Amino acid sequence: MVRAQGLCARAVSGWARGAAQCSARLVLGIDTSCDDTGAAVVDETGNILGEALHSQKGTHLKAGGIIPTVAQKLHKEHIENVVQEAIDKSGVSPCELTAIATTIKPGLALSLKVGLEYSLKLIEQYKKPFIPIHHMEAHALTVRMLHMVEFPFLVLLVSGGHSLLAVARGVSDFLLLGQTLDEAPGDTLDKVARRLSLKNHPACHTMSGGEAIEYLAEMGNRMQFELTQPMSQHLDCDFSFAGLRNQVNQIIIKKEREEGFQMGQILPCVNDIAAAVQHTVTAHLAKRTHRAILFCKKEGLLPQSNPALVVSGGVASNEYVRKVLSIVTEANGLSLHCPPPKLCTDNGIMIAWNGIEKLRAGIDVIHNPKGIRYEPKAPLGIDFSEQVKIAALKVPYLKLKT
Ligand code: KG4
Ligand code: ZN
Repeated sequence: MVRAQGLCARAVSGWARGAAQCSARLVLGIDTSCDDTGAAVVDETGNILGEALHSQKGTHLKAGGIIPTVAQKLHKEHIENVVQEAIDKSGVSPCELTAIATTIKPGLALSLKVGLEYSLKLIEQYKKPFIPIHHMEAHALTVRMLHMVEFPFLVLLVSGGHSLLAVARGVSDFLLLGQTLDEAPGDTLDKVARRLSLKNHPACHTMSGGEAIEYLAEMGNRMQFELTQPMSQHLDCDFSFAGLRNQVNQIIIKKEREEGFQMGQILPCVNDIAAAVQHTVTAHLAKRTHRAILFCKKEGLLPQSNPALVVSGGVASNEYVRKVLSIVTEANGLSLHCPPPKLCTDNGIMIAWNGIEKLRAGIDVIHNPKGIRYEPKAPLGIDFSEQVKIAALKVPYLKLKT
């Protein structure tokens, strides 16, 4: 608690100045759900007063994946500095905060634990209310910090841990239309990148798998490899990426054999493989999203005027994904909204903003957080996927060429 005491001392000197200048409500947001330690102070109008992020990407890239105990250790090492930096940059004192909002679900148990325990200490020290945050709800609502997309809207959340389609009906009111049955698209791209040994590629060794695939795909020809669309016989909004990854692995093995390459060497056709994977993942996302739009229209789940699709999560920072989804939204009369890439990947800002949304709606503002627990697994909203399956809507052909 040495640093926290430091915060308190600064709080005393900052109190009079801050209180005089600022009447808006302010939330400190903290995220440690996976492999990034993020914190931010955001005000009621969506101004980001201060933010800080410590990424563990480099460590996990070297290790070939996220090791939960390593992630936890790094969160423990960095959380205090990250929170301190966000508060320092904001120029407000902890006493001026209206509440502290922290991701408590879903995520890696060991990582969530660090964020929750640290937040509870701050709450105790500064006597602030606590706002527990669902990480996926925060991804879904981030865009509203930038411009007010009104409820209800359709949302596609695609990250390293999730792939889901839902109707956002309110701040904490979601209808789940479909989700992945196996792995998430970011996870698939990360694993393909690893199998292609892209950490040995001079241009991509510092990039996440998804970023590296996007970078290489730009120079590749996706037509060089034929990949089968996942779940084309299933007329629902669920996703599956594990079979696709298997197909790609087979191609890589075959190519390594043909070229006489060892695992670890970069194949000459790496750009073409990246382009084919990126396209197939994107086409799968687009097809399910198209069906979700048709389902929402049929069931009257979206407004008649200005219906909107929001896309967020790490994979939503991909330009190709965005372009292809814009073809789908344009063909169906929806507007498309994606936060900037920096706000698509994990960050503390989206958690602070979700805190603001909950504060305004009077939801989950907890004054005695004693019984609060983190939940590694947590569904998003009410499961409506059975109704989507029963509707079994066919999606008309749409040319997805960008
Ligand atoms: O939302 P996020 O930061 O963390 C999770 O909650 O999972 O998403 C991280 C995922 C990683 O799998 C990463 O490879 C992927 O997002 N990603 C991308 C891109 N940038 C990050 N995937 C495709 N294209 C990108 N440009
Ligand atoms: Zn995330």
